[in-house]
Amino acid sequence: MSATIVLVVVGATVITVLAIAFIRCRLKKRMQARNTSTQETSVSAVNVDSKVDMVTVERFLEDIVKEKPVRFTTQNIIDFTQNFVKKLGSGGFGTVYKGQFPNGVQIAVKALHKTQDKRAEEQFMAEIGTIGRTHHINLVRLYGFCFDDTLKALVYEYMEKGSLDGYLFNENQKLKCGKLYEIAIGIAKGIRYLHDECQKKIVHYDIKPGNILLDANFSPKVADFGLAMLCDRDNSHVSVTGGRGTPGYAAPELWIPYPVTHKCDVYSYGMLLFEILGRRRNLILGLAESREWFPRWIWDKFEEGELDSVMSNCGIEYTDRDKAERMCKVALWCVQYQPDARPSMNSAIRMLEGEEEIIAPMNPFPYMIFFGGSSSQWSKTRGDSTNTATATNDGEEK
Ligand SMILES: Nc1ncnc2c1ncn2[C@@H]1O[C@H](COP(=O)(O)OP(=O)(O)OP(=O)(O)O)[C@@H](O)[C@H]1O
Ligand SMILES: [Mg+2]
Repeated sequence: MSATIVLVVVGATVITVLAIAFIRCRLKKRMQARNTSTQETSVSAVNVDSKVDMVTVERFLEDIVKEKPVRFTTQNIIDFTQNFVKKLGSGGFGTVYKGQFPNGVQIAVKALHKTQDKRAEEQFMAEIGTIGRTHHINLVRLYGFCFDDTLKALVYEYMEKGSLDGYLFNENQKLKCGKLYEIAIGIAKGIRYLHDECQKKIVHYDIKPGNILLDANFSPKVADFGLAMLCDRDNSHVSVTGGRGTPGYAAPELWIPYPVTHKCDVYSYGMLLFEILGRRRNLILGLAESREWFPRWIWDKFEEGELDSVMSNCGIEYTDRDKAERMCKVALWCVQYQPDARPSMNSAIRMLEGEEEIIAPMNPFPYMIFFGGSSSQWSKTRGDSTNTATATNDGEEK
């Protein structure tokens, strides 16, 4: 009798242990499967509670470490920005506010304009996924986003020194040529990564000084990449002809019915390079006739074999002349009218760094002969009245 009891007890114990082991094993497998699928999705759908508690903080810090953009609620964004109290600026896609994560990390929140185009959530997520997978020292990091009915926003790392235009066009804050040369190369490397090195090629469409941000050490990071695919811009950036980009930086093919490729970023980079070199805006109406439109003036000087006068005019010291001359020539190549004639960003970097020989550039502005070669004549023809934008070929030639 007692032997039977012992057998029953042992048997029950064994069955219980086996059952627990089996359940544990199943649970473990399920957890592993869930972890794998989370890692595969590039966007973490963390729908955090309205109040930012420590669990949430730990969760999003984990996701940041895993390098996935985190999904925040409207209330999170309100908490981070203290109800949008500090505005940093605004542009074609929305308004940027300063904020802070609960752990003290500073952030910039771009609240996107409400557009007519109601983008589907899945598409938004897919595009956020693409942007979130880009990691490069010369690209501004996307920490997360908000996709609520009331708010669509992007949460970026905060860049202490703001945008490059503040240091190019502000008399009191100008950077030295050597530093600007490093900045020019850093920007080029960020764009090269978007074109050639990230999982899915990204064309920026809006390279300009306002979209180059500087960290505490004045290292440049390209901002707003991927936004062109994420949302439509408001009318302030769209030309009457319906083109994309910003006047003065946008390549001709963005304004005329012509196939658009990544080479439009190379064109805008060239325009930016002129401004970096001259520490001035490309178009300043009212200057001595020939210097109003800087890129054309540089071409004229190059053609006449007088790059020295460009150097002295731009206040470039003797020791920096070699670098500045390379910047001149690379910029002239980048703004070639024909996209195929423009170099790749990789080639532009190699030329800038002196690793690739720079063949004498062709005239990038042959169409301007039509207007007698005068930049002011040309800009008048366009009806340009601003001194902040550079003139581009808007297809008037046709
Ligand atoms: N991550 C950031 N860190 C610090 N400041 C930022 C950040 N992002 C944007 N800013 C500031 O906000 C301003 C406005 O940025 P925003 O991108 O909205 O306009 P934009 O760059 O002039 O135009 P666009 O819409 O074409 O990008 C910038 O000029 C910059 O000073
Ligand atoms: Mg911007």
